[in-house]
Amino acid sequence: MKNILIIGSTGQIGSELTMYLRNLYGNEHVVAGYIAGAEPKGELRDSGPSALADVVKAESIAEAVKKHHIDAIYNLAALLSVVAEAKPRLAWQIGIDGLWNILEIARENHCAVFTPSSIGSFGLETPPVMTPQDTIQRPRTIYGVSKVTTELLSDWYFHKYGVDTRSVRFPGIISYVTPPGGGTTDYAVDIYYCAVRGERFTCPIKAGTRMDMMYMPDALHAAQMLMEADPGRLVHRNGFNIAAMSFDPETIYASIRQHKPDFEMTYEVDPLKQAIAESWPDQMDDSCARQEWDWEHHYDLDDMTKDMLDKLANRLL
Ligand code: SER
Repeated sequence: MKNILIIGSTGQIGSELTMYLRNLYGNEHVVAGYIAGAEPKGELRDSGPSALADVVKAESIAEAVKKHHIDAIYNLAALLSVVAEAKPRLAWQIGIDGLWNILEIARENHCAVFTPSSIGSFGLETPPVMTPQDTIQRPRTIYGVSKVTTELLSDWYFHKYGVDTRSVRFPGIISYVTPPGGGTTDYAVDIYYCAVRGERFTCPIKAGTRMDMMYMPDALHAAQMLMEADPGRLVHRNGFNIAAMSFDPETIYASIRQHKPDFEMTYEVDPLKQAIAESWPDQMDDSCARQEWDWEHHYDLDDMTKDMLDKLANRLL
């Protein structure tokens, strides 16, 4: 990869991925793609090039790709699960019509493409424990439907046209930088903000509901590692199960209480979030990623808790 375009560079994952890749490949080689109204600010704006790159305006992507001689695109444009249920048409336009635009431009300009899938691509009929790489995917959220389509369309472009598409199924991603918006797993981010501010946390997910989660540094590393992986070893393409930790609200609460014994949590279950959470795996089997491109995670729950509390205290207090 010589020149990279990040689509959605001001979002939850994009903001950190842009800086991570600039550190690895050089600032001038990583272009922060943005949409009107969400322009990069601060370090993101000042440390390297940026370009308008709106997935629903194909010409903006084509222009950015040509101008910056892009050969790899990280496509992070998406609406998260809860917000997508409220805006399904927009979720599809961004997730699928947008992906089509990107894949066509990638085909014409010989770019590799990374478009994340998610635990949301699974559904109630999927085996929830040690969810296999290749298994039933019948999600009932529009987010999940668009993620399964993302996987299939990305595979199709690879088999039909040789476009180098690769992706992972991200668990819920936890970070202290850019807050997520409208996801089912967001409670596991919000809980740390409350703990650091000394507020009681009201949990929207029932005790006992486990989901796969991952700390942002592992998620960034996974995306970059997969894009650099030897294609000759890849049996799969879109998208690899990747796992790091799996917990329910009681477990993350207990992890935080080791540092903040007075922290309080109560429950007010959100029926939509709960139904979505119950349809997602408890814990994925990521052995294919480990075998095919040496994926490994570095943070478990307690490592993450310590780091989140330290970093958020620096930012918020
Ligand atoms: N974090 C996403 C969500 O909760 C799942 O990939 O919507």
